[in-house]
Amino acid sequence: MTDSFVLEDEDATLSLGKSIAGILRVGDFVALHGDLGAGKTTLTRGIIQALLGGQEEVPSPTYTLVQVYDGPDFPLWHFDLYRLEDPEGVEELGWDETVEGVALVEWPEHAGRHLPQVRLDVLLEIHGDQRCVRLEPKGEGWQERLHGFSH
Ligand SMILES: Nc1ncnc2c1ncn2[C@@H]1O[C@H](COP(=O)(O)OP(=O)(O)O)[C@@H](O)[C@H]1O
Ligand SMILES: [Mg+2]
Repeated sequence: MTDSFVLEDEDATLSLGKSIAGILRVGDFVALHGDLGAGKTTLTRGIIQALLGGQEEVPSPTYTLVQVYDGPDFPLWHFDLYRLEDPEGVEELGWDETVEGVALVEWPEHAGRHLPQVRLDVLLEIHGDQRCVRLEPKGEGWQERLHGFSH
């Protein structure tokens, strides 16, 4: 687990996304935790823009629940499960296909039993005008990969 650190503004959140993008590879699952407005979509935007080129528009999939992007090396799935009522519903959203690429998931707890054991948890918190973040590796592999992660 990393110590929690401050993200002073939106650019800092986008920049952390860029750093995370640098360590992602096929099969990865990133779970973004935090209240409404904590910066989950912003961080995801930073990751996707880093992998696809900065001009890519990354809307929040609040209503569509999922948005898929064609990355140069692998596809990216951006889920926002806030409005998902039944965890079983993830299967219809292409959940199982994400092993062929990278899944970036807001409100991951709404996936219930479908949430994989091996994943990177990103915990975002609102601190006044700023945000705090902590990275928590879960399961085999992530611990080592986060070792030496610098941002
Ligand atoms: N580090 C930060 N400091 C201050 N505001 C931020 C920071 N990161 C993101 N924001 C802002 O917080 C708002 C909500 O962000 P968003 O990413 O949509 O949150 P979420 O997806 O968690 O609901 C946006 O207006 C965004 O610009
Ligand atoms: Mg969001």
